[in-house]
Amino acid sequence: MDPAVPMPIARTVRDLRAAVASWRRAGDRVGLVTTMGALHAGHLALVEEARRRGGRVVATIFVNPLQFGAHEDLDRYPRQEAADAAALAGIGCDLLFAPSPDEMYPAGFATQVSVAGVTEGLDGAARPGHFDGVATVVAKLLNQAQADVAVFGEKDYQQLLTIRRLARDLDIPTEIVGHPTVREADGLALSSRNAYLSADERARAAELPRTLGAAADAIRGGQAVDGTLLAATQRLLGAGFGAVDYVELRDAETLAPLQRLDRPARLLAAARIGHTRLIDNIAVN
Ligand code: PAJ
Repeated sequence: MDPAVPMPIARTVRDLRAAVASWRRAGDRVGLVTTMGALHAGHLALVEEARRRGGRVVATIFVNPLQFGAHEDLDRYPRQEAADAAALAGIGCDLLFAPSPDEMYPAGFATQVSVAGVTEGLDGAARPGHFDGVATVVAKLLNQAQADVAVFGEKDYQQLLTIRRLARDLDIPTEIVGHPTVREADGLALSSRNAYLSADERARAAELPRTLGAAADAIRGGQAVDGTLLAATQRLLGAGFGAVDYVELRDAETLAPLQRLDRPARLLAAARIGHTRLIDNIAVN
């Protein structure tokens, strides 16, 4: 770690643990926010929430190869560590943990964390292996940081539930907290992948949250779920989305598929615009 810079950057688990241990000795609580970088206001909102709940805050940046499929965007995923570090320092983040792939997955690495149930369907079906990669890296990051609380975005709702489940199942003592999705003025959820959108695609992308909002209103108003989901898919295709991976109503806690709105629910969608895949979800209560 370089103590001369205002926010130190740890590259090794050892340095991360030393920093966290020294805060603990001083009686501080510790919050954690894990990211793949290319930080935006959504990530920074999680850091501020972690600070409110933690006191000290560690942010992590690691573009996790395990969670990308063979034909996904691992190589072109945006990487901008210096800008990210400046943004984190600017909001008072205490430490950035930015390990190399070798630090996270040294030669001989052979363990995989796989969560059943909540990972079935939705992105679990559209991106085979994705949630094993997420669960494995998040289990490691939680163990490495040993924070009191870790904040994850509802933007990735199936991921949030997967992480809640794995922390419970593996007796990881860190409290898992969800944070509402941070959106642009037109409703588009902030995402590092929005940087891939052309101006035209960006303008049309806001049809995703608008469509979800309208479908949620219809379901709340008593419209049939199946027909509403079909209409939402058609609306997205009509708005210029090239393919709709799914639009589904699920139980907000278990993610079990719902045909009727008879308990707290979540409406989740994934759709492609040009070469970019966007996901979004909203509560339907
Ligand atoms: P990443 O996509 O960088 O997101 C990091 C965290 O920021 C996740 O908890 C995500 O849900 C949250 N987030 C992203 N966009 C958000 C928005 N618009 N509003 C609120 N929160 C938002 O998710 C990952 O990285 C990775 O899968 C990771 C958990 C780091 C494991 O590699």
